[in-house]
Amino acid sequence: MRLSLNPSPAAALLVPPMQLGFTNSKPQYLCRCLRVTEGEVREAVAVSNAETVRGVTQACGAGGGCMACHRHIKRVLAEQQAQIAAEANCPASLGFA
Ligand code: FES
Repeated sequence: MRLSLNPSPAAALLVPPMQLGFTNSKPQYLCRCLRVTEGEVREAVAVSNAETVRGVTQACGAGGGCMACHRHIKRVLAEQQAQIAAEANCPASLGFA
């Protein structure tokens, strides 16, 4: 299953427009085989709660070819999980700020 190239309103709030990969005339593909940008991978992770490369591949197709982008997908997953952990430890998210 591949997600739409158009970000949902909720995902648009999560992914800064510059990371969607459409700010230049040529999109910057994280996965060249499947032509998936880093922003689309981030959106797929946010929407599908994917925690593995396989989950990302199922959500948006990235990583389903030569596997050269798997290290980039793992980096995005680590960044997203670190962000979630930081938000979970943030006193503001608990209503104490
Ligand atoms: S670059 Fe992603 S599978 Fe080949």
